[in-house]
Amino acid sequence: MREHTKLLHGYPVIDSYTGAASIPKYQASTFNQENVFEQQDYSYTRFGNPTVTALEEGIAVLEGGEYAFAFSSGMAAISTVLLLLKAGDHMIVPLEVYGGTCQFIKDILPNYGIKATFVDFQDMVALKKAIRPTTKMIYMETPSNPLLKVTDIKAVMEIAKAYDLLTAIDNTFMTPLYQKPLEMGVDIVIESGTKFLNGHSDVVAGFVSVNDKELAETLQLYQKSFGNILGVEDAWLILRGMKTMGIRMEKSVSNATEIAEFLSHHPRVKQVYYPGLSTHDMHEIHMNQASNGGAVLSFELAGEDEVATVTKHLSIPIIAVSLGGVESIVSYPCTMSHACISEEERIKQGVTKGLLRLSCGIEDVADLLEDLESALNLLN
Ligand SMILES: Cc1ncc(COP(=O)(O)O)c(C=O)c1O
Repeated sequence: MREHTKLLHGYPVIDSYTGAASIPKYQASTFNQENVFEQQDYSYTRFGNPTVTALEEGIAVLEGGEYAFAFSSGMAAISTVLLLLKAGDHMIVPLEVYGGTCQFIKDILPNYGIKATFVDFQDMVALKKAIRPTTKMIYMETPSNPLLKVTDIKAVMEIAKAYDLLTAIDNTFMTPLYQKPLEMGVDIVIESGTKFLNGHSDVVAGFVSVNDKELAETLQLYQKSFGNILGVEDAWLILRGMKTMGIRMEKSVSNATEIAEFLSHHPRVKQVYYPGLSTHDMHEIHMNQASNGGAVLSFELAGEDEVATVTKHLSIPIIAVSLGGVESIVSYPCTMSHACISEEERIKQGVTKGLLRLSCGIEDVADLLEDLESALNLLN
C-alpha cells in the first residue's frame, strides 16, 4: 500500500464494534470489567483508550515502525524520550535544536544528573570528539528549526553504531510521509503532532515511535507513569486530520518550493534557508534521506525594522507561533520559538533579528507570492 492510501486504509479507520466509518471518540476515563480476575484490553484511559490506540497504530504504520505512543504535546514526547537517560549519562545534541528542547536539556536535565554537549552536526569530527565514556544518546533534528540545517542521518548512524549509542530524532519538519528515520536504523522517532500530522492548528500533541520491544515497554511505562497522555478528543481530531495529510502536504510542499525560489531572487532577501533548493549546502544529503524539501522555509531580511514592515503588511499568512497548519504561518523565531534561549545562544545558532520562518499552507500560491512581493517591495 502506498503512502496516501495508507493514510486512509492502512490502520484501524473503521470501528470494529459498530462499523462506523470514523473511529468514534471513546470519551470514557474507565471501562466496565466483566470479570475482575481477567485482564481486558481497556481498563482506564491513562493506560489506553481505543480512539488513542487507533491513532497510535496509524502513526506506527506511517513511520514504518512496530510501536507508537501518543503524548499530550511534542515536548511531552521529547521530555519523555530524554528521561530515558539516567543520572550520570551524557548525550550529544545539535547546536540548533528546537528552543523548547534546548531549554529542557539545559535547565531541567542537569537536575537529574544528565549532561549534554551541544555540537555542530555538520561537523562529524566534532561530533565524534564529543563522545565520552558516559555518552548514551545522540539526538538529531533534521531539518532543524528554524534554520533548516540538515543532519546527515546515515553518517550519524555510523558513529552511533560504532559506539553503541542510542539514537533519537525529531522528525517534525519532514513528517513520517517524507522521511522515515526508523528505516534508516534510528532507534526513536519523535514528531510534534501539533504540526503537519494534525494540520489544522487546533490540537497540541506528540508521538514517539520505535521498533525495539524493550524500548517500547519502557516508553509505555513512562507514558503511564508521567500521565502525559493525549486526550481522546485531540486523538480523534488528529485521526481526522491525517486522512487529508497526503494532499495537504503535496500542496504545502509545492507552495514552499515556488516561494523559496521566488524569495531567493528577491533583492531585499539576504538569504533563503530551504533544503529543497539546489543552492542549500546540504541539498543532496537531504534529498537522499527525504522525498522533498518539506513545507517550511526561513528567510533573512536586513534586520528588525524590515521584519516589522513585512510582518505588518503581509495579509494572508497568520503571524503566529507554530507551523504545519493548512493556513500559511509566519513566525519570528527571535521572540517566538527561540525566545526561551539567551540572545548569545541565538546569535551562536544564527537566529538573527532579521530571520522569519514561513510554514506554507495550501492557499493558491499566486496569492501568497503576490502578498509576499507587495510586503517586500515596501523595503528600501
Ligand atoms: C521541531 C519541533 N519539535 C518539537 C516542537 C514541540 O512541539 P509541541 O509544541 O507540540 O510541544 C516544536 C514546536 O514548535 C518544533 O517546531
